Amino acid sequence: MDTFGGKRAVVTGGGSGMGRELVVQLAEAGCSVATCDVNATGLAETASRAAHAAGRVTTHICDVSDRQQVARLHAEVTAAHGGVLELLFNNAGIGGAGSFVVDDPEDWERVFAVDFFGVYNCSRAFLPELMAADESVLVNTSSVNGFWASLGPGIPHTAYSTAKFAVKGFSEALIEDLRLNAPHVKVAVVMPGHIGTDIVANSRRYFGQPEPDAMGEEDLVPMRESLARQGVDAESLSLDDLRGVRKLMEEGFRTTAPLDAAGAATVILDGIRAGKWRILVGDDAVRLDQQVRANPEAAYDHQGIGLNTINLTAG
Ligand SMILES: NC(=O)c1ccc[n+]([C@@H]2O[C@H](COP(=O)([O-])OP(=O)(O)OC[C@H]3O[C@@H](n4cnc5c(N)ncnc54)[C@H](O)[C@@H]3O)[C@@H](O)[C@H]2O)c1
Repeated sequence: MDTFGGKRAVVTGGGSGMGRELVVQLAEAGCSVATCDVNATGLAETASRAAHAAGRVTTHICDVSDRQQVARLHAEVTAAHGGVLELLFNNAGIGGAGSFVVDDPEDWERVFAVDFFGVYNCSRAFLPELMAADESVLVNTSSVNGFWASLGPGIPHTAYSTAKFAVKGFSEALIEDLRLNAPHVKVAVVMPGHIGTDIVANSRRYFGQPEPDAMGEEDLVPMRESLARQGVDAESLSLDDLRGVRKLMEEGFRTTAPLDAAGAATVILDGIRAGKWRILVGDDAVRLDQQVRANPEAAYDHQGIGLNTINLTAG
């Protein structure tokens, strides 16, 4: 697909970060876009950013992990944009519940439900519309954690990594299935490195946790423990210190990234235009992919393999 003008797209998680930038850049290229999110304020901001673009943007509230909500989204999108779709970006995602051993199993399953079943539910729902187009692309966002299940020493990252491996596996398995059964539908898997977005804050909000300034001691226990596991003298930190660290982590994840969300969206869209099925986003992602492939046995030794960023996702 070498142009987006006149095409129709669905972007999940369009209320922030890469999803928002995909919506804006697609609309600017003349593509009609339906986007969903759990965050109404974020969606409104995205719509206002795209207000003067050539392509029409509609916004929809939907939690992609919930099959009924996805069915409603499907009905709304079909009513607003018709029954043909050239592009589906399964972009919505959250982090959390890093430890299989000590974190709450329900939280673990919620992360997996958003990050894998969100992709599955929307792919299921919109496959008929993708098949109704002359040519179409299903674009699933995995992560470097879809081929390297770690954030570095002392930081378990199991729910997210498991889901992102599943997204990558699902996408790769679809290549042959689509080739046989729907050859005009292509699939692409997106694997970003560290991209400057508010995913840490948004993941906290998804779990209904308060803003850092309003956090109590109880809310900060996981972060205190996580810092301790990373060798920080967390016991000596006051409640205000911890709130400050939490705020810094959330903001720092966005501000210290080597690539911002707009740049990442451009890489993704360039990859789709170039017909790639495998889109690494950021030099860090390219480097990590090479390192893991060159020496898979050493992937988890923490000696030279990693994202080269400070960890900002604790808690
Ligand atoms: N930022 C990174 O460094 C990075 C790296 C690799 C992969 N990713 C992946 O990229 C994708 C986009 O992340 P981002 O960094 O732009 O994050 P973001 O938080 O800025 O944007 C994600 C959006 O998805 C929404 N969302 C979360 N759960 C949802 C749900 N159940 N239903 C609908 N919407 C939901 C959020 O409200 C948010 O608006 C995610 O899948 C993420 O896992 C991000």
